[in-house]
Amino acid sequence: MFWAKTVSDRTGTGVFLLKPASMKHKQSLVMAALVCAASLLQFCSKNDTTIVSSSSTNTTVTNTVGTLQLPATVFNYSNVSFPAHIANALSVVDNTPLNNPITNDGATLGRVLFYDKILSKNNTISCGSCHRPDMSFSDSAIKSRGFIGGLTARHSMRLLNVRFYRSGKMFWDERSNTLEDQVLQPIQNTTEMGLTLDELISKVSAQTYYPALFQKAFGNTDITTDKVSKALAQFVRSIVTYQSKYDKVKQGLASFTQDESDGETLFLTRGNVTCAGCHAPPMFLTSNPDRPFALQDATDRGINNQDRFKSGSLRNIAATGSYFHNGSVATLNDMLASNIPQHGVAAQDRQKLLAFMQTLTDVTTIADVKFSNPFK
Ligand code: HEC
Ligand code: HEC
Repeated sequence: MFWAKTVSDRTGTGVFLLKPASMKHKQSLVMAALVCAASLLQFCSKNDTTIVSSSSTNTTVTNTVGTLQLPATVFNYSNVSFPAHIANALSVVDNTPLNNPITNDGATLGRVLFYDKILSKNNTISCGSCHRPDMSFSDSAIKSRGFIGGLTARHSMRLLNVRFYRSGKMFWDERSNTLEDQVLQPIQNTTEMGLTLDELISKVSAQTYYPALFQKAFGNTDITTDKVSKALAQFVRSIVTYQSKYDKVKQGLASFTQDESDGETLFLTRGNVTCAGCHAPPMFLTSNPDRPFALQDATDRGINNQDRFKSGSLRNIAATGSYFHNGSVATLNDMLASNIPQHGVAAQDRQKLLAFMQTLTDVTTIADVKFSNPFK
């Protein structure tokens, strides 16, 4: 009875853990144990999940490849208040389909799927292996390694601000029309994760923790590829960077240095087709790479074999490495000093453009626990 009462008394915010600091150590331990038991009970009561152990803050469940830890209360993915310069842009370019809005439970399921290695044939690779949060959801390697060690054909893309890509087309060559379609491709890719969709469903269904997560996200425990796709897309769409120095400056909360400010001016005004003409603020991407631009690459001609490529959001560009579709440009300085069309600039402009691009880095968002790997 006492346990049940504890559960029903929960405010749903996990505040039990934030009891007054004055509370004696022993009491807080007891309280932590209660909260723990309460969240476990809540988790257990709705499904057949096997609880193996628990920490003081999380519900902890076994997995064939790790230990899943989720907080008692879901994180906020659906209702983030973006500053005006971001919100205004989003209202115009958002590629979220009407039938798949971001919900907290949907993105939570997506987060688990994103980091779950059972989505690969031999349980060694997850989406997060090639889209690492510490690398702004890209990879440090020029080409990433798949489940049996094979290399991807192109450099991994940063999964930031994907929902601002108006056309919704995904991959460097835009071969996928929507994010919902895209997220099932790596799972079936014979280099990357190597599963058939039937294998995907049977492996996901075999994990004890999924029925409850599907129930919360979609209202029933049926596990289908459509739901896997929707949940993964919700999670990826929820990764939005809006806490960089650039964003603070746009809100009047900080100011650029002289170099940063000169760099922004160059970015917006330099050349016939400006940098911003292709990489449009505030997310520094364009939804239709129709302008003539080619990084010479005889082996890969991109969109419709026309030597065109998508460029994802340049946000956090200075926090990653290996640039362009083939990862052939090692540093931003190399790019600015190169003879790549539109991308090589005069020596005196390089430091300024570099300084400006560095202001686009948002370390707060990529380190947010709600985007982190829930498997320990
Ligand atoms: C083995 C490495 C690897 C794995 C695993 C992987 N990706 Fe990728 N991802 C890549 C590479 C490489 C690209 C670019 C491929 C291309 O354009 O041909 C990419 C591109 C993408 C894009 C396109 C982004 C854009 O702006 O167009 C999305 C979205 C994405 N991946 C999501 C995922 C999801 C979700 C998973 C897990 C289901 C996943 N990836 C698993 C390497 C990987
Ligand atoms: C004509 C359109 C165009 C213009 C102008 C342009 N870019 Fe690009 N940029 C692209 C495209 C397209 C790509 C991706 C090409 C590829 O991977 O082969 C790209 C790639 C990049 C990348 C690497 C992105 C990544 O994810 O690896 C950076 C950084 C960049 N551009 C910065 C700039 C700067 C700075 C300027 C101005 C000096 C500029 N661009 C001008 C279209 C443009």
